[in-house]
Amino acid sequence: MKKKLTKMMSVILMIALVLSVAGCGTAQDKSGKTANSAAQKKIGIIQIVEHPSLNTIRESIIEELAAKGYKDGENITIDYQNAQNDQSNLKTIAKKFVNNKYDLIIAIATPSAQAVVSETKDIPIIFSAATDPVGSGLVKDMNNPGANVTGTSDRVSAEKIMELAKRITPKITTIGALYNTSETNSVSVIENLNEYAKKNNMTVVNATVTNSSEVQQAVNSLVGKVDAIFSPIDNTIASAMPIVTQTANKAKIPVYVGADSMVKDGGLATYGINYTILGKETADMAAEVLNGKKAGDIPVKTMSEMDIYLNKNTAKAIGISFPEDVLKGAAQVFGD
Ligand code: TRP
Repeated sequence: MKKKLTKMMSVILMIALVLSVAGCGTAQDKSGKTANSAAQKKIGIIQIVEHPSLNTIRESIIEELAAKGYKDGENITIDYQNAQNDQSNLKTIAKKFVNNKYDLIIAIATPSAQAVVSETKDIPIIFSAATDPVGSGLVKDMNNPGANVTGTSDRVSAEKIMELAKRITPKITTIGALYNTSETNSVSVIENLNEYAKKNNMTVVNATVTNSSEVQQAVNSLVGKVDAIFSPIDNTIASAMPIVTQTANKAKIPVYVGADSMVKDGGLATYGINYTILGKETADMAAEVLNGKKAGDIPVKTMSEMDIYLNKNTAKAIGISFPEDVLKGAAQVFGD
C-alpha cells in the first residue's frame, strides 16, 4: 500500500515537472511577476489611413502604453490594422476585432471610431483624435460618455485659423473649402468656417471630394476663384497634401490647414494641437480601462493648448513673408 502511494506521488511529481518545463500555465517575466499567458490582454488598433499625423498618434500611444507597463509581446498583444481609407476595409477590421473578442479597441481618427462603435456595445473603445465626437455620433455627452466608448478629441477652431490667416495674408475675401464630405470630422469644422465667413463678409467656395483620387481636380476647380484655401483636419486631404500644395503653390494660393503635419507637408500655416501629447493622453485612458475602469465613466478629453505652425518654403514659393510677430509666436517653422 505504502509502495503504491509513493509510486503514485512520483508519477504526479513527474507530470508536474514535465508541465512546468513545457511552460504551460504560468510564465515568469523578467521582473519575476507571473503572468498567465492565456489571460494576456489583446488590444486592436484600427487606423483609417496612413498619413504622418495618424502615424505620430499611433507611435505615441504604443510608447505611452509601454511606459505605463503594457508592453506589446510581453504582457499585451497589439493587433494594428490600417484600412487604407476604404470603408469596407474598416468594417471588415472592426468585425474581426469584435469576433476575436479583443479586450480593448483603440480607434485612430473619426471614421475608424464610427466603424467600431457600430459593431460593439460591449468591448471598451478608446477613440483618438476625433474632431467632433458628439456630432460624429461617437458619444452623446463629452463629460459623461456612458456605455463602452470614450477618447480624445482634436477639436480646432476654424475661426482661430482664419484669424491667423488674416494676419498672414490680410486680403482674403473668397475662401475655398477643401474637404471630404463623408468625413464628419471635417463637416463640423466647415460649418464653423461658414459662420466665420458670414460674420466677416467672406464668400466660401466648396471643393469637396469623396476620396483621394478626386483631390487634384478639386484643387484645380479653385484656381482663379479664391484668395486662399482652407482644409480642416481631413484624413483624405492630409494623405494627399503633396498634390494640394503643388497646384496651390503654382497658382500662388495660400493653403491654411487644420493640423501641424499638413503644414509640414506643404500647407502654409495652422493654429493647432500637439498630436504626440494627444496620443499620450489616449494611451493613459486605455491604461485606465486595462486597469479595470469603465470606458464610459471617463470624460472625453479635449486639448486646450494650441500653437502656430508655419512653412517657410511654402511662403517663399507663393511669394509672401510671415509678419515678424507671427514668426515669433510660432511653435514650429518647417522648411529650410
Ligand atoms: N481629427 C481627425 C478625425 O477626426 C483625425 C486626424 C488627426 C487628422 N490628425 C490629423 C486628420 C491630421 C488630418 C490631419 O478623423
